[in-house]
This record gives sequence, C-alpha cells and structure tokens, in this order.
Amino acid sequence: MAPHDSVLELIGRTPMVKARRLDAGVCELYLKLENANPGGSIKDRIGLWMIEAAEARGDIRPGATLVEGTAGNTGLGLALVAQQKGYKLILVIPDKMSREKIFNLKAMGAEVVLTRSDVGHDHPEFYQNLAAKIAADTPGAYFINQFGNPDNPAAHEASTGPEIVEQMASVGGFDAIVFGCGSTGTMTGLSRSLARLAPEVELVLADPVGSVLAQYVNEGVLSDKSGSYMVEGIGGDHLFSIADFSRVKKAYAIPDAESFHTARELLAKEGVLGGSSTGTLLAAALKYCREQTVPKKVVVLVPDTGNKYLSKMYNDYWMLDNGFLERPQYGDLRDLILRPYSQRDTVVVAPTDQLTIAYQRMKLYDVSQLPVMEGEQLAGIIDESDVLLHVYGDEARFRDPVSVAMVSKLEKLDVKSPIEALLPVFDRGQVAIVMDGERFLGLITRIDLLNYLRRRVS
Ligand SMILES: Cc1ncc(COP(=O)(O)O)c(C=O)c1O
Repeated sequence: MAPHDSVLELIGRTPMVKARRLDAGVCELYLKLENANPGGSIKDRIGLWMIEAAEARGDIRPGATLVEGTAGNTGLGLALVAQQKGYKLILVIPDKMSREKIFNLKAMGAEVVLTRSDVGHDHPEFYQNLAAKIAADTPGAYFINQFGNPDNPAAHEASTGPEIVEQMASVGGFDAIVFGCGSTGTMTGLSRSLARLAPEVELVLADPVGSVLAQYVNEGVLSDKSGSYMVEGIGGDHLFSIADFSRVKKAYAIPDAESFHTARELLAKEGVLGGSSTGTLLAAALKYCREQTVPKKVVVLVPDTGNKYLSKMYNDYWMLDNGFLERPQYGDLRDLILRPYSQRDTVVVAPTDQLTIAYQRMKLYDVSQLPVMEGEQLAGIIDESDVLLHVYGDEARFRDPVSVAMVSKLEKLDVKSPIEALLPVFDRGQVAIVMDGERFLGLITRIDLLNYLRRRVS
C-alpha cells in the first residue's frame, strides 16, 4: 500500500468483514466498518463531501469560517477536514455534552460555543438556531447545516452505497442493509444509490425505542409523542427536509438495554469496538436475520467507534448504575456495595504503600477514600483529608507509608443492618464500612445510596 498524501485520503473505502460467531440464523451477516474512518465515524464522509461540494460551487473561499451546530461525530468529521484544509470551524454545542467530546473538538482546532440544552427547537438559543445566527452574523461564513444540506445524502449516494455494492459483489451480492437515521443522510443517500445499483436490496431501519421513526416506517404514522433514550446519534422526533423514507419498508425499535448488550456482544464475539448505535443496528440486523426462512446476505453498518463509550456502556459499573446489568440481590447492605471486595472490585491500598500511591489511586478511580488492607484484614481507611492533613506543610511526607495517615479506629456496620443505619454514618461525613463478621465486604458511599434509591424508582 503506497503512502497517502493526507489523512483525508483515509476517509471512506472502509473494510467489510463477515461476522463469524454471532447467531445470524440462516443468514450471513456482514459488518461495514465505518468506525475505521480517521475521525472514528461515518460522518467523516459528509464532513469531506459537504466542504468540497461548497468549495466546488464557490460558496466558501480559502480561510473561510465554517459554522455547524453539533456535538457529535459530524463535529469531529468537520474538524478533521477544516483543520487539514485551513478553514476556521465554529461548533455550537448544547451544554449537556460530555467534556471529553468538547476536549476532543478543541484539540482538533475547532472553536466551541456552548449553548443551552434545556430549550426546544424553536428557541433562538437552540444549538442549530444559534449556529445559523452566528453564520449569518459572521462575514463570509458558511453554515454547514447537515440536517437540511443535500450534500449530506449526496456523500453517501456517491461513496457509501457504491462501495458496499462493489464489496458485496465479490461474495455474490446482498439482500438487505440495516442502518440508523440521525440526520437521515445515510438512509437517503444509500436508498438513492441502491435504487440504481441494486434495486432488489431491502432497506431496514434500526431505531431506538423512544424515537418516532420506526413507527413511521412500519405504520405510516408520525407520532408527536417521543421518549428519551441513551443511544447516541440516531433516532428523532420529527422528519428533516433531506429525509427520503420511500424505499424503506421495515423498521425495528430497539430498547437501550438491548442496544448496549448487543454492542458488547459484538466486541466479545467479533472483536469489533462499535458505538452505542452500532448495538441498535446490530440488534435489528440479528432480529431480521433470525426471522428469515431462506438464507440471505445482510449488511449492517458499524457507524462509529466505541472509544467514546468506554466509560459508559463498556463499563460494568455504569451498566449496573443505570440498571442495564443485574447482580444477585441479597436483601441486605450487600445490594448497595457497587464494588464488592470479594469480587476483587474494591480499589484498596496496603498500609506499607506510600501516600503518593494512595493519592494516585484515588485520582485514577475517582474515589475519595480507600480501604487499607493488610492481607484479607481491614486495617484502616484513608481519605483525601487524611492525606492532605498529613502532607500539608511538608510535601516530602507524600513518601510516608499509608499506615501513619490512615484512620484505624473504624466504625463498622454489619451487613444485616437496616438501610437507615447508613444515614448517621453519612451525616458524620464518613463512608459505611460493611462487614460480615470479621470479613470486609466493601464500602457504601452517599452516591451509592442515591443510585440504589434511584434504581428502585425505575
Ligand atoms: C452514531 C451515528 N451517527 C449518525 C448516524 C446516521 O446518521 P445520519 O442519518 O445523520 O446519516 C448513525 C447511523 O447509524 C450513527 O450510528
């Protein structure tokens, strides 16, 4: 393979790989790895296409300012292309978005304008409206507007669709393709190119439960009642101007839990690290495959990488906290211990470890205290204040052993104590140390109790 001149040449021409271990019934399932794009998602394609189409029309001049409202993959794709081509990029982002996404965009050179996330789409501060206004007020600026920009579906019509047809031709063609809808650019573009190149291929929409699009496809009814869901990048509560559903006859609505578990299954069985929507698409694809009575070849998109979701759906604690994973319930305080010591899940230090180790471990795991374990025995607890009070005034004491700063006179709670027994412990500013006789079971903090109560509500 000859070297490339620019990272932009790595956009598109993504690999297709056959699933080997997933249960696809009588069908063969193929994964189109859009997570292999340099910005990590299918949106790199439209980032490149929407900018180059505007250049070709003379809508943007060298050094121009581009403006878009998005915190998602489109922002990353645009940031990559704008950076390589020397454009300034302003992204308007709702303020509920994760800090990681904002750091990522800024590190790629984009200017980030935060706006309110608690306003509806007719409010001037809604992120897309604010982006349009900034573009209108900035001389020579160009508003990308992926939701209404025909260059968005055109990117998929010209690249994604023909690529898939060519790849699948080498295994004798294909019968169905499963995708999701965010801006609907992927669907509209794929639909147009397949109408020309492979009109017999069935188009199957995967949609999160809570979005109105699956019902629109299956029943022709556009509901005004949408719900919330945690899968990112797909689904919606209305139709965009670039949407063309005319050739889509089948849709599956997939709940969050199934999406997350299916994405994890993809990584476990096929070694592919996809994002949350990949789980939705794959779950729909597997349902479709298992419903078939004659063998078919089915393509499913892997729209983005799972890197951004490592601390969410790939994190067992996040899954437990959000009720997507179950642990056996005991009817006692064990049910509130998020990281049981018996499962080697509790982060601990030894009395002989230096205080720097304790400090680093608290930071790494984002906890404020650590049990100090001497073998299997709980020797004490050390928290941030213990470390601070010990080292303040003489930072060399960071090298002292944990044993000199820890609290060793411990108030412990028996595992059979009622939940109410936690409240006075928290009131004293402590964490609960849960014991079964002499055996240390784990810690319970205020947030653990809050999570437990919230889980009970839902
Ligand atoms: C994360 C993510 N973003 C975007 C899309 C599709 O986007 P669009 O409809 O905007 O082309 C998908 C589709 O599956 C997706 O999973």
